[in-house]
Formats: sequence, structure tokens, C-alpha cells
Amino acid sequence: MSKKISIQNGKLHVPDHVIIPFIEGDGIGKDISTPAQNIVDAAVEASYGKQRSIEWKEVLAGEKAYKKTGEWLPVETIDAFREHIVGIKGPLTTPVGGGIRSLNVALRQELDLYVCLRPVRWFKGVPSPIRYPSTVDMHIFRENTEDIYAGIEFMTGTPEAEKFKSLLKENFGLDDVRFPDSTSFGIKPVSEEGSKRLVRAAIDYAIKHELPSVTLVHKGNIMKYTEGAFKNWGYEVAEQEFEHQTFTWRQYEKIFGKQGAEIAKEKVKEARKEGKIIIKDVITDAFLQESLLRPYNHSVIATMNLNGDYISDQLAAMVGGIGISPGANINYNSGFAIFEATHGTAPTIAGTGQANPSSLILSAALLLEYMGWNKAAEHIYDALEHTFSKRKVTSDLFALMEGATLLSTKEFAHEVIRNIH
Ligand code: NAI
Repeated sequence: MSKKISIQNGKLHVPDHVIIPFIEGDGIGKDISTPAQNIVDAAVEASYGKQRSIEWKEVLAGEKAYKKTGEWLPVETIDAFREHIVGIKGPLTTPVGGGIRSLNVALRQELDLYVCLRPVRWFKGVPSPIRYPSTVDMHIFRENTEDIYAGIEFMTGTPEAEKFKSLLKENFGLDDVRFPDSTSFGIKPVSEEGSKRLVRAAIDYAIKHELPSVTLVHKGNIMKYTEGAFKNWGYEVAEQEFEHQTFTWRQYEKIFGKQGAEIAKEKVKEARKEGKIIIKDVITDAFLQESLLRPYNHSVIATMNLNGDYISDQLAAMVGGIGISPGANINYNSGFAIFEATHGTAPTIAGTGQANPSSLILSAALLLEYMGWNKAAEHIYDALEHTFSKRKVTSDLFALMEGATLLSTKEFAHEVIRNIH
């Protein structure tokens, strides 16, 4: 009898035979969902025999939900994720009109999934635009609930924009607004609580996965009280809550001044020998360059919503693109987590058998790790790598590889399962 995941004494309790809710997804969601589940089932069986299993429970969202229930995101679906704590989803169409900005955003908000986790690693055989892709092992912690994405925006010419403009004018003046008569406005809320819980989760993750560093990525040189504050709050978390496990880069600036870079390098070496995690910060534009040139210098990246959006796609492109990048939205306090394919519904190839299911497969492997079923996740990583290194790939990667064999979505999944066995 399969059972639900529960939280016991603040920790995730996963029964051996577990129910996992899933949203199939729109467009290519239908093509990749079952193959991904079959691969997970094979990996679980190869790892634990009949001792463990997953019962997949479909819940509705997107077009399928709209056709069956008249709603894009039925309340039963949100309740199911709440009840089962952990779930997985395929890509969803963003409804045009109808009051929902995005189903993904709605789900994240409902469950307060404040971390968007994107691990980025390279699999042997996958084409990459960088010279040493094997040095890429980065884990992005993108803040998921704040920043310019909060949706507080006023279009120029609307009564709201006028109201906001007069509020500004009366209280702060309009000198810094270059063209006040034709300006739209957007608000960027960034809080101490929101920033600290994100950085706390990133440091915890680095400790748990024995990763050497956490980089705070921000534009604090320009946006001092939002992005700059994020950086300072991030350092505060490390210094106040992880004093014995971390070495914060800014300490050396305080102690030695900028001239002390050499001494600081020695201090970092010492700290690493003691097993401490190095907490550093980099300005976003420099980071985008740095991550291409010296990816090995960054393991966990903690950043705000908009930066995280850009960084996620650049880093994904370095190791094969969105077709093979996994993701998860997590609240590390409540335990709620939804694992997801990071690409969209790819409507032009939906139903053609061309879709690459790897993003969803790797997201499912992340889910297994989250449940503590690491052996099954390892089976998936090994089998995928084996398949890629034999150059057996779907059309997106086929176009970039010489001497490759083109497989359909189903054939690719069969090949991965064969490699699991
Ligand atoms: P998209 O990711 O669907 O497609 C971008 C390009 O990548 C297309 O050329 C597509 O064919 C290709 N592609 C994407 N996934 C692929 C895969 N697994 N295998 C092979 N090729 C793949 O992004 P687009 O076109 O901007 O959005 C289409 C729809 O998806 C929109 O309604 C959008 O709102 C939605 N969307 C949903 C997301 C989600 O549910 N997480 C994320 C992004 C977009």
C-alpha cells in the first residue's frame, strides 16, 4: 500500500512505497511525462528491488484541467501538493487573458516555494560552447518570491501610474525621472527575511553536499538598498548563523583592507583546509563573464529573482541547454517542493516525438535525492551519461553533434532504461 510523505519532527518522512502527485503538462508535457516516470520506476527497482516504489497520482493543471473542469489551476491540485508535500510537473501554457499571470507563479506563491533550485552539471558527450565543460558543477539558488517579479507595475498613462507619480512627486520629487510624462513604473521589493531565508537555504545545501563555496550575486553597486542589502544580509546570515562552518570573504576587507588580497588568499586556503565554506560576492555582470571563464570558482550561487532568471539560462546553455536542465521550487521550512522541467511547452514539436525528456528526467532524479533515494538518482545520472556518450540523442542535441544517432522521445527513454539495467 502506497502512502503519503509526511513531516515528522520537522523532517521529511518518506514511506518506502510512496504516492507522488504529478502534473502531466501541456504541449510536449504529454510526450515526456510517461517516459520520465518509466525511467524513474526502472531506477527505483534497480536500486531497491520490490522494497521501494512510487505510485504516480495525476493532478490537473493547464489546458487539460481547463478542458475537464473549466479551471486552469483547480484548487484540488494545490491541495494535493499540500497534502503530499512533494510533487513534479511538466511545462504549462500561460493562459492568455483570464486573470492568471502564470500558472507556475501561482503554484509557487500558493505554496510559498521561495527557492528556485537549478543544479547545472555537464554530462559527458553533450555538446557545449565552452572549452572545459567538465569543470561546471554549479547550483543556483534563485529567490522566487520577491524582486521586480512581484508584479507591482503601473503602465504609463493609466490612473494608477498617475497616482503613483503624484505620490512620488509629493514625497520625493521627480528629478530623477528622465521623462515623467511617458514613464511606466515597476517596484522592486526586497526584504531582509526573504533574502536571509534564501541565503540560509543555500549555505545549508552547500554544507549538506560538501560544496566549497557560496557566491552572492548582486548589482549592489547600483541598487544599494535592494541588491546591496541582499548582499549584506547574506553575509550576516553566514557570520551570525554559520560562524564555525563558513569563512566570509568580506572579513578580510574589514581586517586587511583591499591591499590584503594575498593574505586573504592564504586565509581562504586555511579555511578550506578546515572544511569551511567560502562565502563571497560578485557583481552580476562580472559573474556572467566569470562563470564562462572560471566556472570552477563557483559552486553554490545565491541570487535574487531577476538575476537568477538570466543566470539560469546562461548556465544551462553552457551544458547543453534548457532541454536537459532540471529544476525545483522548494520551501525548505515547510518541506513543500515541486520539481519541474525548466523548458516550456514547445508547441511546434508537441506530439512529433522530437522532445528531449532529459530535463524532466533529471528533475525527477533531483526529487529522488530530495526524498533521500540517492542510489536511484545515481542510476539515472549514470544511464543518461552513458546514453549521451554513445551519441544517442533526441533532435535538439542531434543537430549539434557529429556522428550521432537520432532517437525519438520514446526510443531515447528505452535506451536510458536499457542502460539502467
Ligand atoms: P519553450 O521552452 O517551450 O521553447 C523554446 C525552444 O526550445 C523551442 O524551439 C522549443 O522547440 C525548444 N524546446 C523546449 N523544450 C524542448 C525539449 N524538451 N526538447 C527539445 N526542444 C525543446 O519556450 P517558449 O516557446 O518561450 O514558450 C512556449 C510556451 O511554454 C508558452 O506558453 C510559455 O508561457 C510556456 N512556458 C512554460 C514554462 C513552464 O511551465 N515552466 C517555462 C517556459 C515557458
